[in-house]
Amino acid sequence: MSATAGSNALTAPAIAARKGKTPLVCLTAYTTPGAKLVDEHCDVVLVGDSVGMVLHGMSSTVGVTLEMMILHGKAVRRGLHSALMVVDMPFGSYEESPAQAFRNAALVMAETGAAAVKLEGGESVAETIRFVTARGIPVIGHVGLTPQAVNAFGGYHLQGQGEDAEQILRDATAVAEAGAFAVVLEKIPEALARLITQEIAIPTIGIGASPACDGQILVVDDMLGLFGAFRPRFVKRYAELGKGADAAIAAYAKDVRERRFPAADHVFGDEPGTVTGGECT
Ligand code: KIV
Repeated sequence: MSATAGSNALTAPAIAARKGKTPLVCLTAYTTPGAKLVDEHCDVVLVGDSVGMVLHGMSSTVGVTLEMMILHGKAVRRGLHSALMVVDMPFGSYEESPAQAFRNAALVMAETGAAAVKLEGGESVAETIRFVTARGIPVIGHVGLTPQAVNAFGGYHLQGQGEDAEQILRDATAVAEAGAFAVVLEKIPEALARLITQEIAIPTIGIGASPACDGQILVVDDMLGLFGAFRPRFVKRYAELGKGADAAIAAYAKDVRERRFPAADHVFGDEPGTVTGGECT
């Protein structure tokens, strides 16, 4: 079993109470160093099932397993102190029945020390959310574009246009009424995001859903320029770390090939007992 959150960590009720106030800042993390980077800046850190695409090279989140989420959840737990930690329930781990959802969510909570789980779907998972939250597990919902349903959608298209808007409003309402403490709205038009945010009592967290939401979330590798497979329009690149890493690796390769690395500074003499600069290797 893993450690639980520190006593200063934000709680699900504290996040719910932020409805209509200062926007919630949320990012994903998948590793201990990644969690340490985002912790002090974020209200919510999500161990997203996007880990399958971002770190494991999968073509969608459909193949992500409970074991992967638990492994990455444990790693993130070690790096978090103040943000609320949420773990995504992967495809196939909650859809069968409310009992299946509770069993797997309880396992995720116990193993990772997460404070909440997130699951995708609207009206179709409302009964499950009611069952799980009534038994002590805080839940974040996720409606609009739900990536685990990519095969049903036939791609990652904008959702909620025309008559579909009413269904997404019903989905968000169902999730809120079932007891979720927040809901992610993914890739829907601004007017719909604004309407949902006005209509429901819990915070909306947008990704490609406009500033009308009560908060925002991005995949951290997307906004750092580390993940190049997709570049959705809703991602703002705050850094180009992938380009920086490429330049650094190219410079290393050139140095090795041209025998400029290792240089004198990196080479040990043969004097016995020589210790340089507090190194440990
Ligand atoms: O898996 C994920 O990263 C998500 C997003 C909402 C960021 O669900």
